[in-house]
Amino acid sequence: MRTELCDRFGIEHPVFGFTPSEHVAAAISRAGGLGVLGCVRFNDPAELDAVLTWMDEHTDGKPYGVDVVMPAKIPTEGTAIDLDALIPAGHRDFVERTLQELGVPPLDEDAHGAGVLGWLHSVARSHVDVALQHPIKLIANALGSPPRDVIEQAHEHGIPVAALAGKAEHAQRHVANGVDIVVAQGYEAGGHTGEIASMVLVPEIVDAVDVPVLAAGGIGSGRQLAAALALGASGGWLGSYWLTTAEYAESVPASATQQALLAAGSSDTVRTRVYTGKPARLLKTRWTEAWSQPGAPEPLPMPLQNLLVADAHQRITRSGDPSVVSMPVGQIVGRMNEIRPVADVMSDLLREFDETLTRLDKLR
Ligand SMILES: Cc1cc2nc3c(=O)[nH]c(=O)nc-3n(C[C@H](O)[C@H](O)[C@H](O)COP(=O)(O)O)c2cc1C
Repeated sequence: MRTELCDRFGIEHPVFGFTPSEHVAAAISRAGGLGVLGCVRFNDPAELDAVLTWMDEHTDGKPYGVDVVMPAKIPTEGTAIDLDALIPAGHRDFVERTLQELGVPPLDEDAHGAGVLGWLHSVARSHVDVALQHPIKLIANALGSPPRDVIEQAHEHGIPVAALAGKAEHAQRHVANGVDIVVAQGYEAGGHTGEIASMVLVPEIVDAVDVPVLAAGGIGSGRQLAAALALGASGGWLGSYWLTTAEYAESVPASATQQALLAAGSSDTVRTRVYTGKPARLLKTRWTEAWSQPGAPEPLPMPLQNLLVADAHQRITRSGDPSVVSMPVGQIVGRMNEIRPVADVMSDLLREFDETLTRLDKLR
């Protein structure tokens, strides 16, 4: 299976793997795909620098990329506004009351963090600056086109820029802004998603733009990868499927999250604003359900919602209770039923892709 993107990136297979774990990203690259490390969790650029140095040492010289989260517009960014002061007391009360009802213990005094700041332009820009000091091969942006000067900065280093899109018009805007590759992210995907399913979205975007398109959302088998290519994509962009790999377990040891994912079926996800303030698909748990009960407040806009729930996420993680986890995952979770090394996942994808093509060839 070779597409134009294999030659462009020097990869064996057009399998692009988004992951927040450097262990997974490095393993995807070593297995012949392009591992793309999510940077949003790094509040401190020095920490990202250290992790990318680790990537440089553990990718056997194979290419890898990074993903930043640069929302197109954050009205409060760059102003002296105290974001915490914008969070209504009623929302804080609801979060506290809900966690108590769910049996999630409070944090120790020293465990309170700053939350995830990677949603802020200033922090995401620092991610780009740091990443460009490493031999990265791709910068992807989660929430649309990055600002033009960031695209130019990447291009000056010879690095292509990818951007996620949930609509053909968004994809066209990205390309007009200078984006090189569009990731068509369907409704069934984990994380931020629009309302159009991949089966409809991918060909719509392929027809609307003249740059390579990666299909994202619902890929977890060689048949789905073959379908993505049949729809006109130049490769697959997978996020959820790596969450039940052995390498992800290395990043998040003794994970209640993995237990919850292994047990979940394809109908156990929900598209909700409770994670970041923008619609994102998460595992449906007692935590997400609490936000849809009568009397629950509307989630706040980005970045306030994320600040509101930052401590709650830490508390939930430390509780070790699979029934309350707060985790982005797509509908493909129904096929994520065992913990396996990335290399095995990749070889299964490729084997089934080949079998699919052979089967289809016989239909002619
Ligand atoms: C746990 C998780 C976190 C994600 N975080 C980001 C992110 O920070 N940036 C981004 O561009 N996409 C993010 N995504 C979306 C993925 O990049 C990818 O587009 C999506 O997972 C593809 O659909 P799938 O989940 O069906 O494989 C995330 C997805 C998951 C599952």
